[in-house]
Amino acid sequence: MAEKHFKYVIIGGGVAAGYAAREFAKQGVKPGELAIISKEAVAPYERPALSKAYLFPEGAARLPGFHVCVGSGGERLLPEWYTEKGIELILSTEIVKADLASKTLISAAGATFKYDILVIATGSSVIKLSDFGVQGADAKNIFYLREIDDADKLVEVIKAKKDGKVVIVGGGYIGLELGATMKINNLDVIMVYPEPWCMPRLFTADLAAFYEGYYAKKGIKIIKGTVAVGFDADANGEVKAVKLKDGRVLDADIVVVGVGGRPLTTLFKGQVEEEKGGIKTDGFFKTSVPDVYAIGDVATFPMKLFNDMRRVEHVDHARKSAEQAVKAIKGSEEGKSIDEYDYLPYFYSRSFDLSWQFYGDNVGDTVFFGDSDLESTQPKFGSYWIKDGKIVGAFLEAGTPEENKAIAKVARLQPLVQNLDELAKVGLTFAFNI
Ligand code: FDA
Ligand code: NAD
Repeated sequence: MAEKHFKYVIIGGGVAAGYAAREFAKQGVKPGELAIISKEAVAPYERPALSKAYLFPEGAARLPGFHVCVGSGGERLLPEWYTEKGIELILSTEIVKADLASKTLISAAGATFKYDILVIATGSSVIKLSDFGVQGADAKNIFYLREIDDADKLVEVIKAKKDGKVVIVGGGYIGLELGATMKINNLDVIMVYPEPWCMPRLFTADLAAFYEGYYAKKGIKIIKGTVAVGFDADANGEVKAVKLKDGRVLDADIVVVGVGGRPLTTLFKGQVEEEKGGIKTDGFFKTSVPDVYAIGDVATFPMKLFNDMRRVEHVDHARKSAEQAVKAIKGSEEGKSIDEYDYLPYFYSRSFDLSWQFYGDNVGDTVFFGDSDLESTQPKFGSYWIKDGKIVGAFLEAGTPEENKAIAKVARLQPLVQNLDELAKVGLTFAFNI
């Protein structure tokens, strides 16, 4: 089979790949120099849409509406854009072998790609219940959500099982966002997760209490402190029931599982240094192998602000790490130096008419502020995280753009706080006065 050579190859065609392509175009690439090789059949798009507007019963988001870079207010890169720039989009092509020593990639169909510089942007894969041997986990209508094909399957089953029962397994991002979209589709929703409250990797008990209360008011039932240990299927192999560890059995026509992701580093195992489950990089997203960069979910990079190595599985970092890596690549070719990555973590989520943002680090003591009364007409509340006397993280539900900017500033500047009771009283005003 033919062998192709490119100066730059991006492996993966998700968020980071799309933003990297835009930056390459901005910095100047000649036609034929850059290729994106993606397992997916479509040009890079804003993945967050898949668990939100893509699943709406009305006015659903569809491609080409949400190709990158619309999610950050940028130009929408349609497939034609890549053609115009001479960037080769090699779609529906999974790389199954990577040999970093000989700078060679091999696809499932047997095609060979050679590169001078490689950018790894393979993102994450979902953790499956079958990975832990959960009985019956391969029944039909048990779904995971990572790529657009997965979202299309959900759209189909929502239509097929009108007014049906959905069990959501997992209380993290996917669990909360899918719980909401399934309810918006008028399905009967039960959420099950092992922890004492939802989104435990970020939420405090106070924050979680509001969201759980809000979901309950929407008619979503929540079962905490237990896990799914098995599934029953009918004669067609379609899931019918979810068996819980505590002995309960839940009827189900659809099961959606969101029990975490795993960075896709398998292709490079043993060839590149890893740390904290990801590919170790420097502040320019260079890996331990010359001419190989890693960006987005797969990169474990120096988080200057916390003097620590971190991996971040969120879209803002996917975008910014991509831009940083490309600037570094082009800069080193031109003998120009650029500043090290200095990232302020930013996570967000939206469901129903709720919308929160978080900046910084969620470690240390917490101070809750604001109004989280479910009966209020416009609840607005948040939390600060305080470590060594300094605010290191800030969360806000229902913030205006100015308010969100203010909490981002607090998390970046890490001001000292003397009195936590006073901080709880002044709440958001503290951020505005920084
Ligand atoms: P991404 O997953 O976007 O792309 C990886 C690409 O690599 C895919 O196209 C994949 O097919 C391809 N690939 C992998 N292996 C390959 C191989 N061997 N050969 C070829 N191609 C290969 N974050 C946030 O901050 N706010 C939000 O609201 C959301 N919402 C959200 C919803 C859903 C449903 C998901 C799954 C994720 C989010 N996220 C999010 C997380 C965010 O989308 C995620 O962090 C970024 O997409 C990461 O970008 P990457 O480019 O690293 O991976
Ligand atoms: P997650 O890590 O956010 O949540 C996983 C959850 O799974 C845990 O909170 C726990 O409740 C639950 N869990 C773990 N083991 C379980 C078990 N055996 N049975 C039942 N529940 C179990 O992961 P996710 O929600 O699957 O999200 C996957 C990826 O997609 C992550 O990288 C996430 O950052 C990303 N994502 C992000 C957003 C966002 O930022 N708004 C939205 C959707 C997805």
